[in-house]
Amino acid sequence: MSFALLCFLLRLLITALSATPYRPTDQILFSCGSQSSGTDDNQRSWNGDARSKYAPPNIATTSIASEPTEQGSSVPNFAPYTTARIFQSEFTYTFPVLAGPKFLRLYFYAATYSNLDKNVSFNKNESFFTVTANEFTLLSNFSAYLTSTPSEPSFKKEFIINVEDNHSLNITFSPSPKSYAFINGIEIVSMPDNLYFRDLPIKFVNQLYYLKNTTALETRYRFNVGGGYVGIKADTGMFREWFQDDNYIPGGEFGYTPHAENLPIHYTEHSPAYTAPEIVYTTSRVIANGSKSLEWSFPIDSGFHYLLRFHFCEIQMEVTNQNERVFTISINNQTAEIEADVIFWTGGTEIPYFKDYVTWVSDDGRRGEKDLRLSLFPNLISRPKYSNALLNGLEIFKLSDSKRSLAAANPDHKLNSSPLGPDNSSQKKKNKDSSVLYPVIGSVTGFLLLLLFVSFLIFHGRRREEDFGLSEVKSSWVPLSITSKSTTKTSGSGSSLPSDLCRQSLLEEIKLAMQRQEVADNRGRDGVVVDGRDSPMSPSYPLLRHEEPTNTENDKLFSGSGEVVVESKSTNTSTASNDLSKSSITSTAAMTD
Ligand SMILES: *[C@@H]1O[C@H](CO)[C@@H](O)[C@H](O)[C@H]1NC(C)=O
Ligand SMILES: *[C@@H]1O[C@H](CO)[C@@H](O)[C@H](O)[C@H]1NC(C)=O
Ligand SMILES: *[C@@H]1O[C@H](CO)[C@@H](O)[C@H](O)[C@H]1NC(C)=O
Ligand SMILES: *[C@@H]1O[C@H](CO)[C@@H](O)[C@H](O)[C@H]1NC(C)=O
Ligand SMILES: *[C@@H]1O[C@H](CO)[C@@H](O)[C@H](O)[C@H]1NC(C)=O
Ligand SMILES: *[C@@H]1O[C@H](CO)[C@@H](O)[C@H](O)[C@H]1NC(C)=O
Ligand SMILES: *[C@@H]1O[C@H](CO)[C@@H](O)[C@H](O)[C@H]1NC(C)=O
Ligand SMILES: *[C@@H]1O[C@H](CO)[C@@H](O)[C@H](O)[C@H]1NC(C)=O
Ligand SMILES: *[C@@H]1O[C@H](CO)[C@@H](O)[C@H](O)[C@H]1NC(C)=O
Repeated sequence: MSFALLCFLLRLLITALSATPYRPTDQILFSCGSQSSGTDDNQRSWNGDARSKYAPPNIATTSIASEPTEQGSSVPNFAPYTTARIFQSEFTYTFPVLAGPKFLRLYFYAATYSNLDKNVSFNKNESFFTVTANEFTLLSNFSAYLTSTPSEPSFKKEFIINVEDNHSLNITFSPSPKSYAFINGIEIVSMPDNLYFRDLPIKFVNQLYYLKNTTALETRYRFNVGGGYVGIKADTGMFREWFQDDNYIPGGEFGYTPHAENLPIHYTEHSPAYTAPEIVYTTSRVIANGSKSLEWSFPIDSGFHYLLRFHFCEIQMEVTNQNERVFTISINNQTAEIEADVIFWTGGTEIPYFKDYVTWVSDDGRRGEKDLRLSLFPNLISRPKYSNALLNGLEIFKLSDSKRSLAAANPDHKLNSSPLGPDNSSQKKKNKDSSVLYPVIGSVTGFLLLLLFVSFLIFHGRRREEDFGLSEVKSSWVPLSITSKSTTKTSGSGSSLPSDLCRQSLLEEIKLAMQRQEVADNRGRDGVVVDGRDSPMSPSYPLLRHEEPTNTENDKLFSGSGEVVVESKSTNTSTASNDLSKSSITSTAAMTD
């Protein structure tokens, strides 16, 4: 009995520690043009900038606090959009923050503004300006009006900037000639040091790319692939938004969207709990019957490198082993990953994993808009059990160029130009109440609160799932397209006693750890992974070799502009089988592009 209790408490502690989301060390919500504080649509409190220590003392004479004059149903009536600060000459805010990477979010509401006291009015179509943050140019000759859409005139732009030791974050607004600059709100939130700047080489076609912290990033897209909108409070503590990907699938080939909301997600050292919320990993998109691939198309600015982060987690009960679902990832017709096998990477199911890739999008001459195409299709060379592909989440970042600029042309058409995915307000409203508030940790009280919260989650898990409103979204557990037999698996989250549940899940965790170790050991030995588990479903032919891009010893180093690129041997597929399927031929051909 006492063992059961101890076990249960230990389990709580493990859950608490491994599921601990990130807690920001810097968090500034700054409502520009405002005297007082206000509350946003997520009940976050924004401080006015009029008497702030972050603004220069002469702010009242060097800028104009204004209010929008627009009327209508789409006018946002919450902070920070209810006021703006207008600049007719260069203006700098200085934020003292700790060293490390920060999210910088700039909020714009493209409206005509006025200041009644000063009897002045500013037309929304006459504002063009440049925004810099420390040495980075974030926006240049930027028009919030041309960037906004009629349905969503307010939007935010998210950047990631690394602040060095003893530096502050200086944000400067400079109006174009005969123009004015404005800003409604500034949000600064810190993040784990190695969340995006990982100090590891990233695959870049046949080369490797080193993302240094002297590069600034702009978030272009962040998707909960196959799932619903995930609001800022449901993020892992950094207030990121995760959008639906439906609007970016050409030809209406939406695939299936398997959901597994009642499965526990086992975060790892590689993919810690702050990487992405559980909901990202428990929803997914796979290829539907009759379809050959998963396809996406994203409008992006040309003339930049892009970082793409793919989030994976195997949650379909049919797929439990390596070489059961193997697929190729192609970015703009270039093969990024010839053999993606999620279970090979993770060592088991319900374990999240992310992979980064860099791609270059050539300039159209004026850094105008182009489509970035993404394609995931089965790789049948190793004769995997199923012919399918999988994606759970996706983040796409624009990388600053050699002049430390992220600035691109203004959109020349006002449609399809939302900065962070589709700002679907009805979608947001539907999901707003579902946000999960993470507790504040850092004190004894905080820890006790966390324990309470965790037990709440455990005993009310079912309710939390429903809160996300996903039960209505299509069907779950859709069979894969070559389903010959399907394995039945006992779920660990049945209606068992706490002690049973505890023992079971602890055992499961130990088993998973051992499996992962096994995979790691095998990999370390000779780079070839051998599946030790004897599964009657396993195919009888030898397993394919998987090559990891980490061995750089023999690679030649040379410097590029702002990054170091390492030439590496192109990842050749093993020439194991003669009867290559059609799709494998295509993928090999694409690789040599
Ligand atoms: C930036 O990267 C350099 C080299 O990797 C490192 O020495 C430095 O500490 C990093 N800066 C921050 C603020 O993390
Ligand atoms: C405001 O300025 C306009 C011209 O810019 C002028 O016609 C008007 O009388 C002024 N209103 C007040 C109340 O000063
Ligand atoms: C801006 O729009 C107003 C009407 O809304 C128009 O009178 C003005 O000429 C426009 N300015 C420019 C520069 O297009
Ligand atoms: C920010 O501005 C302050 C005051 O102008 C200056 O002392 C500081 O060096 C600037 N910091 C950076 C990182 O540019
Ligand atoms: C700024 O952008 C506008 C609209 O895209 C364009 O008409 C104007 O020439 C640009 N100005 C500069 C200085 O590039
Ligand atoms: C930061 O400032 C402190 C105190 O002024 C100084 O001791 C430290 O060396 C500085 N660090 C860097 C990296 O400049
Ligand atoms: C990709 O390949 C297809 C077919 O070969 C071609 O139509 C398309 O233009 C290519 N796209 C890019 C971005 O190269
Ligand atoms: C928002 O999404 C709903 C359904 O999800 C759709 O009917 C509506 O047209 C969308 N609105 C916009 C502005 O995209
Ligand atoms: C997919 O196709 C296979 C054979 O073509 C069939 O047996 C299976 O039932 C189909 N699955 C679905 C979900 O339609």
